[in-house]
Amino acid sequence: MARIVGGITTSHIPAIGKAIQGGKSNDPDWKPFFDGYLPVRAWLDAVKPDVAVVVYNDHGLNFFLDQIPTFAMGAAKEYPNCDSGWGLDEGPPARGTPELSWHLIESLVHDEFDLTMCQEMKVDHGFMVPMSVLWPHATEWPLQVVPLAVNTVQHPLPSPARCYKLGKALGRAIASYPEDLKVVVIGTGGMSHQLQGERAGLINKPFDLMFLEKIASDPEALARLSVRDLVEAAGSEGVELIMWLVMRGALDDKVATIHRHYHVPVSSTGAGVLLLENAA
Ligand code: DHB
Ligand code: FE
Repeated sequence: MARIVGGITTSHIPAIGKAIQGGKSNDPDWKPFFDGYLPVRAWLDAVKPDVAVVVYNDHGLNFFLDQIPTFAMGAAKEYPNCDSGWGLDEGPPARGTPELSWHLIESLVHDEFDLTMCQEMKVDHGFMVPMSVLWPHATEWPLQVVPLAVNTVQHPLPSPARCYKLGKALGRAIASYPEDLKVVVIGTGGMSHQLQGERAGLINKPFDLMFLEKIASDPEALARLSVRDLVEAAGSEGVELIMWLVMRGALDDKVATIHRHYHVPVSSTGAGVLLLENAA
Protein backbone atom coordinates (compact mmCIF):
# COMPACT_ATOMS: atom_id res chain seq x y z
CA MET A 1 0.00 0.00 0.00
CA ALA A 2 1.07 3.62 -0.41
CA ARG A 3 2.36 5.18 2.76
CA ILE A 4 3.17 8.72 3.87
CA VAL A 5 6.86 8.88 4.78
CA GLY A 6 6.86 12.49 5.92
CA GLY A 7 5.56 16.01 5.65
CA ILE A 8 7.58 19.04 4.61
CA THR A 9 6.76 22.74 4.65
CA THR A 10 8.49 25.48 2.74
CA SER A 11 7.85 29.03 1.59
CA HIS A 12 7.58 29.69 -2.15
CA ILE A 13 9.08 33.18 -2.41
CA PRO A 14 10.16 33.76 -6.04
CA ALA A 15 13.47 35.34 -4.89
CA ILE A 16 14.49 31.86 -3.65
CA GLY A 17 14.16 30.50 -7.18
CA LYS A 18 16.15 33.44 -8.55
CA ALA A 19 18.92 32.87 -5.98
CA ILE A 20 19.14 29.16 -6.93
CA GLN A 21 19.23 29.96 -10.62
CA GLY A 22 21.87 32.66 -10.05
CA GLY A 23 24.07 30.22 -8.08
CA LYS A 24 23.82 32.41 -4.96
CA SER A 25 22.98 29.74 -2.36
CA ASN A 26 26.37 30.14 -0.67
CA ASP A 27 26.49 33.95 -0.75
CA PRO A 28 26.64 35.37 2.79
CA ASP A 29 23.16 36.88 2.42
CA TRP A 30 21.60 33.61 1.33
CA LYS A 31 23.62 30.89 3.07
CA PRO A 32 21.81 31.08 6.45
CA PHE A 33 18.53 30.61 4.60
CA PHE A 34 19.61 27.79 2.28
CA ASP A 35 21.49 25.94 5.04
CA GLY A 36 18.08 25.43 6.62
CA TYR A 37 17.25 23.02 3.80
CA LEU A 38 20.34 20.80 4.04
CA PRO A 39 18.86 18.34 6.57
CA VAL A 40 15.68 18.10 4.50
CA ARG A 41 17.64 17.39 1.33
CA ALA A 42 19.70 14.75 3.13
CA TRP A 43 16.47 13.14 4.35
CA LEU A 44 15.01 13.19 0.81
CA ASP A 45 18.23 11.60 -0.53
CA ALA A 46 18.01 8.84 2.08
CA VAL A 47 14.25 8.19 1.99
CA LYS A 48 13.77 8.69 -1.77
CA PRO A 49 10.01 9.26 -1.90
CA ASP A 50 8.31 8.06 -5.10
CA VAL A 51 5.66 10.77 -5.13
CA ALA A 52 5.15 14.25 -3.69
CA VAL A 53 1.67 15.58 -3.11
CA VAL A 54 2.35 19.32 -3.35
CA VAL A 55 -0.27 21.48 -1.65
CA TYR A 56 0.18 24.91 -3.18
CA ASN A 57 -1.70 27.99 -4.32
CA ASP A 58 -1.97 29.34 -7.81
CA HIS A 59 -1.30 33.10 -8.06
CA GLY A 60 -3.48 33.89 -11.09
CA LEU A 61 -1.68 31.73 -13.67
CA ASN A 62 -3.83 28.62 -14.16
CA PHE A 63 -6.85 30.06 -12.36
CA PHE A 64 -7.78 33.72 -12.47
CA LEU A 65 -10.38 35.74 -10.58
CA ASP A 66 -13.05 34.89 -13.14
CA GLN A 67 -12.92 31.18 -12.28
CA ILE A 68 -11.17 29.99 -9.16
CA PRO A 69 -11.80 26.63 -7.50
CA THR A 70 -11.53 26.33 -3.72
CA PHE A 71 -9.66 23.03 -4.09
CA ALA A 72 -8.30 21.57 -7.34
CA MET A 73 -6.22 18.48 -8.01
CA GLY A 74 -4.06 17.80 -11.03
CA ALA A 75 -4.55 14.56 -12.95
CA ALA A 76 -2.17 15.32 -15.80
CA LYS A 77 0.91 13.54 -17.17
CA GLU A 78 2.96 16.67 -16.70
CA TYR A 79 2.75 20.15 -15.20
CA PRO A 80 4.63 22.86 -17.07
CA ASN A 81 6.03 25.83 -15.19
CA CYS A 82 4.72 28.96 -16.92
CA ASP A 83 5.59 31.64 -14.36
CA SER A 84 7.41 34.02 -16.67
CA GLY A 85 6.23 37.04 -14.66
CA TRP A 86 8.89 36.55 -11.98
CA GLY A 87 11.70 35.95 -14.49
CA LEU A 88 12.29 32.38 -13.29
CA ASP A 89 13.65 29.80 -15.74
CA GLU A 90 10.90 27.39 -16.68
CA GLY A 91 12.92 24.17 -16.39
CA PRO A 92 11.46 20.74 -17.12
CA PRO A 93 7.77 20.16 -16.38
CA ALA A 94 6.97 18.26 -13.19
CA ARG A 95 6.06 14.62 -13.90
CA GLY A 96 2.52 13.61 -13.01
CA THR A 97 1.01 10.27 -12.05
CA PRO A 98 -2.57 10.30 -13.41
CA GLU A 99 -3.32 6.88 -11.87
CA LEU A 100 -2.61 8.04 -8.34
CA SER A 101 -4.26 11.42 -8.96
CA TRP A 102 -7.50 9.75 -10.06
CA HIS A 103 -7.43 7.46 -7.07
CA LEU A 104 -7.02 10.45 -4.73
CA ILE A 105 -9.78 12.38 -6.51
CA GLU A 106 -12.18 9.40 -6.30
CA SER A 107 -11.41 8.94 -2.63
CA LEU A 108 -11.66 12.65 -1.75
CA VAL A 109 -14.95 13.17 -3.59
CA HIS A 110 -16.30 10.05 -1.89
CA ASP A 111 -15.14 11.65 1.39
CA GLU A 112 -17.23 14.80 0.56
CA PHE A 113 -14.40 16.99 -0.79
CA ASP A 114 -15.74 17.91 -4.23
CA LEU A 115 -12.55 18.95 -5.96
CA THR A 116 -12.06 20.50 -9.36
CA MET A 117 -10.23 17.93 -11.53
CA CYS A 118 -7.54 19.25 -13.83
CA GLN A 119 -6.29 17.12 -16.70
CA GLU A 120 -4.24 20.10 -17.81
CA MET A 121 -2.61 22.35 -15.28
CA LYS A 122 0.11 24.98 -15.52
CA VAL A 123 2.02 25.72 -12.35
CA ASP A 124 3.68 28.87 -11.04
CA HIS A 125 6.26 29.79 -8.37
CA GLY A 126 3.84 28.55 -5.71
CA PHE A 127 4.57 25.02 -6.94
CA MET A 128 7.97 25.25 -8.64
CA VAL A 129 9.96 27.20 -6.04
CA PRO A 130 9.27 24.51 -3.41
CA MET A 131 10.33 21.85 -5.94
CA SER A 132 13.55 23.65 -6.83
CA VAL A 133 14.53 24.46 -3.25
CA LEU A 134 14.06 20.78 -2.26
CA TRP A 135 15.75 19.34 -5.38
CA PRO A 136 17.98 22.26 -6.46
CA HIS A 137 20.27 20.33 -8.81
CA ALA A 138 17.60 18.28 -10.53
CA THR A 139 17.87 18.39 -14.31
CA GLU A 140 15.04 15.87 -14.27
CA TRP A 141 12.66 15.77 -11.30
CA PRO A 142 13.47 12.66 -9.23
CA LEU A 143 9.84 11.84 -8.34
CA GLN A 144 6.28 12.13 -9.58
CA VAL A 145 3.91 14.78 -8.26
CA VAL A 146 0.25 15.36 -7.52
CA PRO A 147 -0.54 19.09 -7.32
CA LEU A 148 -3.33 20.08 -4.93
CA ALA A 149 -4.25 23.74 -5.39
CA VAL A 150 -5.96 25.66 -2.57
CA ASN A 151 -7.57 29.05 -3.13
CA THR A 152 -5.72 31.67 -1.10
CA VAL A 153 -6.48 34.52 -3.50
CA GLN A 154 -10.21 35.21 -3.89
CA HIS A 155 -12.26 35.44 -0.67
CA PRO A 156 -14.07 33.57 0.76
CA LEU A 157 -11.14 31.22 1.36
CA PRO A 158 -11.49 27.75 2.88
CA SER A 159 -11.07 27.91 6.65
CA PRO A 160 -8.05 26.46 8.47
CA ALA A 161 -10.41 23.81 9.91
CA ARG A 162 -11.63 22.83 6.44
CA CYS A 163 -8.04 22.60 5.17
CA TYR A 164 -7.04 20.43 8.13
CA LYS A 165 -9.99 18.11 7.43
CA LEU A 166 -9.04 17.98 3.75
CA GLY A 167 -5.60 16.84 4.89
CA LYS A 168 -7.16 14.06 6.95
CA ALA A 169 -9.18 12.90 3.93
CA LEU A 170 -6.01 13.13 1.81
CA GLY A 171 -4.19 10.92 4.31
CA ARG A 172 -6.97 8.30 4.06
CA ALA A 173 -6.91 8.55 0.27
CA ILE A 174 -3.15 7.97 0.09
CA ALA A 175 -3.28 5.06 2.56
CA SER A 176 -5.90 3.28 0.44
CA TYR A 177 -3.81 3.25 -2.77
CA PRO A 178 -2.82 -0.36 -3.44
CA GLU A 179 0.64 0.23 -4.94
CA ASP A 180 3.68 0.31 -2.62
CA LEU A 181 4.63 3.95 -2.91
CA LYS A 182 6.49 6.25 -0.54
CA VAL A 183 4.61 9.55 -0.51
CA VAL A 184 5.81 12.87 0.90
CA VAL A 185 3.22 15.61 1.45
CA ILE A 186 4.51 19.15 0.99
CA GLY A 187 2.68 22.16 2.43
CA THR A 188 3.88 25.34 0.77
CA GLY A 189 3.59 29.14 1.04
CA GLY A 190 3.64 31.47 4.03
CA MET A 191 4.81 32.32 6.52
CA SER A 192 3.74 35.84 7.54
CA HIS A 193 3.75 38.36 4.71
CA GLN A 194 1.62 41.06 3.17
CA LEU A 195 2.55 42.30 -0.30
CA GLN A 196 -0.16 44.95 -0.72
CA GLY A 197 -2.19 47.68 0.94
CA GLU A 198 -1.60 49.67 4.11
CA ARG A 199 0.16 46.88 5.96
CA ALA A 200 2.48 45.93 3.07
CA GLY A 201 5.72 44.60 4.53
CA LEU A 202 4.10 43.10 7.62
CA ILE A 203 6.04 40.20 9.12
CA ASN A 204 5.07 38.66 12.48
CA LYS A 205 7.99 36.62 13.77
CA PRO A 206 6.43 35.65 17.14
CA PHE A 207 3.36 34.36 15.31
CA ASP A 208 5.48 32.41 12.80
CA LEU A 209 7.49 30.78 15.58
CA MET A 210 4.29 29.87 17.43
CA PHE A 211 2.86 28.41 14.22
CA LEU A 212 6.02 26.34 13.57
CA GLU A 213 5.73 24.87 17.04
CA LYS A 214 1.97 24.26 17.11
CA ILE A 215 1.66 22.78 13.66
CA ALA A 216 3.61 19.83 15.03
CA SER A 217 2.36 19.70 18.62
CA ASP A 218 -1.19 21.06 18.51
CA PRO A 219 -2.52 21.51 14.95
CA GLU A 220 -6.10 21.50 16.24
CA ALA A 221 -5.39 24.84 17.96
CA LEU A 222 -4.31 26.31 14.61
CA ALA A 223 -7.33 24.75 12.92
CA ARG A 224 -9.53 26.73 15.31
CA LEU A 225 -8.24 30.04 13.91
CA SER A 226 -10.42 31.81 11.37
CA VAL A 227 -9.21 33.14 8.03
CA ARG A 228 -9.60 36.59 9.53
CA ASP A 229 -7.41 35.66 12.52
CA LEU A 230 -4.73 34.47 10.09
CA VAL A 231 -4.91 37.61 7.95
CA GLU A 232 -4.71 39.82 11.04
CA ALA A 233 -1.74 37.98 12.51
CA ALA A 234 0.17 36.87 9.42
CA GLY A 235 -0.94 39.30 6.70
CA SER A 236 -3.12 39.03 3.62
CA GLU A 237 -0.65 36.65 1.95
CA GLY A 238 0.37 34.98 5.20
CA VAL A 239 -3.01 33.30 4.90
CA GLU A 240 -1.15 30.89 2.60
CA LEU A 241 -0.43 29.04 5.86
CA ILE A 242 -3.77 27.24 5.43
CA MET A 243 -1.91 24.96 3.02
CA TRP A 244 0.40 23.82 5.82
CA LEU A 245 -2.70 22.56 7.64
CA VAL A 246 -3.59 20.33 4.69
CA MET A 247 -0.15 18.72 4.94
CA ARG A 248 -0.47 18.37 8.70
CA GLY A 249 -3.90 16.78 8.49
CA ALA A 250 -2.52 14.05 6.23
CA LEU A 251 -0.05 12.96 8.93
CA ASP A 252 -0.91 11.13 12.14
CA ASP A 253 -2.06 12.98 15.25
CA LYS A 254 1.36 12.43 16.82
CA VAL A 255 4.37 13.48 14.78
CA ALA A 256 8.09 13.89 15.38
CA THR A 257 9.77 17.12 14.27
CA ILE A 258 12.88 15.95 12.43
CA HIS A 259 13.97 19.43 11.42
CA ARG A 260 12.79 23.00 11.87
CA HIS A 261 14.24 26.25 10.52
CA TYR A 262 13.13 29.88 10.32
CA HIS A 263 14.78 32.75 8.50
CA VAL A 264 13.48 36.29 8.29
CA PRO A 265 13.09 38.19 6.10
CA VAL A 266 13.46 36.62 2.69
CA SER A 267 12.18 39.27 0.31
CA SER A 268 9.05 40.41 2.22
CA THR A 269 8.33 37.16 3.99
CA GLY A 270 9.09 35.05 7.06
CA ALA A 271 10.46 31.79 5.62
CA GLY A 272 9.86 28.55 7.53
CA VAL A 273 11.02 24.99 6.90
CA LEU A 274 9.72 21.89 8.68
CA LEU A 275 10.26 18.18 8.27
CA LEU A 276 7.80 15.97 10.15
CA GLU A 277 7.46 12.20 10.38
CA ASN A 278 4.64 10.17 11.87
CA ALA A 279 5.67 9.30 15.42
CA ALA A 280 4.44 5.68 15.30
C1 DHB B 1 6.68 36.95 -2.23
C2 DHB B 1 5.94 36.05 -1.45
C3 DHB B 1 4.92 35.30 -2.05
O1 DHB B 1 4.14 34.41 -1.37
C4 DHB B 1 4.64 35.44 -3.41
O2 DHB B 1 3.68 34.66 -3.95
C5 DHB B 1 5.38 36.32 -4.17
C6 DHB B 1 6.38 37.09 -3.59
C7 DHB B 1 7.77 37.77 -1.63
O3 DHB B 1 7.96 37.77 -0.39
O4 DHB B 1 8.52 38.40 -2.39
FE1 FE C 1 2.59 33.53 -2.59
